[in-house]
Amino acid sequence: MTFRYAPLTAQDQPAVVQHLLSLDADDRVLRFNTTAPDEKVVEYCGRWNHADDIVEGAWEGERLIGLIHLPVFRVGADLVGELGVSVAADRRKRGVATRLALRTLDSSRRRGLDRIYINFLTRNRPMMCLARRFTDDIALDGDETVATIHLDAAPRNDADAADQSRPSGDGCGHRPCAAGRGPCAAGCSG
Ligand SMILES: CC(C)(COP(=O)(O)OP(=O)(O)OC[C@H]1O[C@@H](n2cnc3c(N)ncnc32)[C@H](O)[C@@H]1OP(=O)(O)O)[C@@H](O)C(=O)NCCC(=O)NCCS
Repeated sequence: MTFRYAPLTAQDQPAVVQHLLSLDADDRVLRFNTTAPDEKVVEYCGRWNHADDIVEGAWEGERLIGLIHLPVFRVGADLVGELGVSVAADRRKRGVATRLALRTLDSSRRRGLDRIYINFLTRNRPMMCLARRFTDDIALDGDETVATIHLDAAPRNDADAADQSRPSGDGCGHRPCAAGRGPCAAGCSG
């Protein structure tokens, strides 16, 4: 199965809305850290600022099967972004989120961002695995977790390798989650 990866523009917004509305109730809780009825999802999409935000998509033909939205903002003198990601349920565990994240990190470095934050529920094991690919700076605070990717740091070799030779759907059990750490501590065997 071949996916096409590309930045998303304002013209892609109907596909963005359709993709996010296709997430079931629990996926929406995982994506937004709260329940998100249809009207809230549509309203949220209407607030995206394509001129400033970094938005990457994965397409299968005409269907948008995954995306990352990274609003960019200043914290003091630093330029930072906050990453939100989702992949269609029937296209997961194929490396789509990893590939989208790699593209987003590249764009963020080009834009001169200092850090990327990822806020997610601690029970979200796929997200914990994904975050561990890119950073060791992961702070658990009860139900919520914040991962911080420091972009001045050199890219991690394992993430680079994953982009080039990603096997499909084999979870964390077959390879280390992060360099030298061994199988994912979050227990990401699916
Ligand atoms: C989190 C999410 C984006 C991952 O998408 P994906 O395309 O399946 O992710 P990848 O295939 O790139 O895999 C990323 C990691 O998660 C692991 N993983 C994927 N699905 C998993 C599952 N169901 N159980 C455990 N681990 C899983 C993979 O093994 C991989 O770990 P590894 O890199 O250590 O091998 C997807 O599950 C999703 O859309 N969830 C709902 C929305 C959400 O939770 N968003 C995050 C909040 S910002």
